Amino acid sequence: MRTQVGIVGAGPAGLMLSHLLHLAGVESVILECRSRQYIEDRVRAGVLEQGTVDLMKETGVGERLEREGLRHDGVWFSFGGRRHRVNLSELTGGKAITVYAQQEVVRDLVKARLGAGGQIVFDVDDLSVHGLDSKIPKIRYQKDGTEHEVSCDFIAGCDGFHGVCRPSTPKGVIAVYERVYPFAWLGILAEAAPTSDEVVYTYHERGFALFSMRSPKITRLYLQCAPEEDLTQWPDDRIWKEMRARMQTEDGWAPAIGPVIQKGVTGMRSFVIEPMQFGRLFLAGDAAHIVPPTGAKGLNLAVSDVRVLSRAVEAFYKSGRHDLLDEYSATCLRRIWKVQRFSWWMTSMLHLFPGYDGFDHRRQVAELDYVTSSRAGMTSLAENYVGLPMD
Ligand code: FAD
Ligand code: DHB
Repeated sequence: MRTQVGIVGAGPAGLMLSHLLHLAGVESVILECRSRQYIEDRVRAGVLEQGTVDLMKETGVGERLEREGLRHDGVWFSFGGRRHRVNLSELTGGKAITVYAQQEVVRDLVKARLGAGGQIVFDVDDLSVHGLDSKIPKIRYQKDGTEHEVSCDFIAGCDGFHGVCRPSTPKGVIAVYERVYPFAWLGILAEAAPTSDEVVYTYHERGFALFSMRSPKITRLYLQCAPEEDLTQWPDDRIWKEMRARMQTEDGWAPAIGPVIQKGVTGMRSFVIEPMQFGRLFLAGDAAHIVPPTGAKGLNLAVSDVRVLSRAVEAFYKSGRHDLLDEYSATCLRRIWKVQRFSWWMTSMLHLFPGYDGFDHRRQVAELDYVTSSRAGMTSLAENYVGLPMD
């Protein structure tokens, strides 16, 4: 098989890239190791930046998002038993975040690609990439026991943190910058009506907690836990007791309790590679960087990478320009490092770290007090939270 861009991975990065390339008249094939059902049901992110929402609407995949997405004009920070609201839209000239589950974004993009005749090969095995520094790199994989090969002009490695593309680059050409955090998040979905219309980030001496939602009937909640937390030690009643112990405020606000329909533990790390390119392999999304989830940036960063990549590829085919491809990594990294900084800062401000004492506690509370009361502090937080410009 021959295509212009071979894309490894049908997560938000790979699917959005294929969609944008299609709109630019560039052909691509997506190869995904999981089934369609698996990727469409995988529970992950929920918060879309304004730029992600705008891009989906502008490119014709925002119809359901417009109908079902929950626009939030503000966000809450809870500490010392009180909640404090940061008015996002007032501080950013009308921007907001939208709660719309990642699997819904994936469903909308899969539908759009297949509806437009796009090719997504699901359930591939033993995928490998070859000839990355040649003019015709190749992707080999097995499907139903048969070997296949795709020859392309470019390979987009959109295969997430555990993918094969990044490790296929020669040793020494890519530098890694990393922080691993000494805690994780225990996340649940519960059949309970959300008791707040907006996301609540809670700082508490028992550890961080986060209140979010997916629909008028489904609450999404997270608790700071140990990195290797054993889920069997967390029956529903223990989860609810801990959620309420951390989140309940002096005015009686707390999440409503209901049946837990999904549970998982997510590790926390900051990770960036430089450069995000080797020869004709371009890495995008979680394949190139990971942010800790505090700040809700991972999916949005994946989208901003592929926006840059699709424009560079388009310029190559339309006018033979190489410069945007050559600048891909540097262009993305400028934004990525600012988003890394924000995610690290939110994580550091809101979590309990081993060894923290009374000094650290007071410093964290002072920081929360500052960013929820100073207009300058709130503006900085708001502009980062709704999303820095994608250009
Ligand atoms: P992925 O979604 O990981 O997609 C990679 C794809 O490649 C997968 O489909 C995988 O099956 C496939 N693949 C892997 N290896 C191979 C192979 N060898 N061959 C073929 N295919 C392969 N981000 C936010 O922006 N906001 C949030 O609120 C948020 N909350 C989160 C909460 C949780 C619990 C988690 C786990 C993550 C959260 N994130 C959030 C992060 C976000 O989910 C990721 O950043 C996002 O999925 C990155 O998209 P991606 O396309 O780069 O990678
Ligand atoms: C959600 C996830 C996040 O990481 C976050 O910071 C806010 C909300 C969510 O899943 O809704």
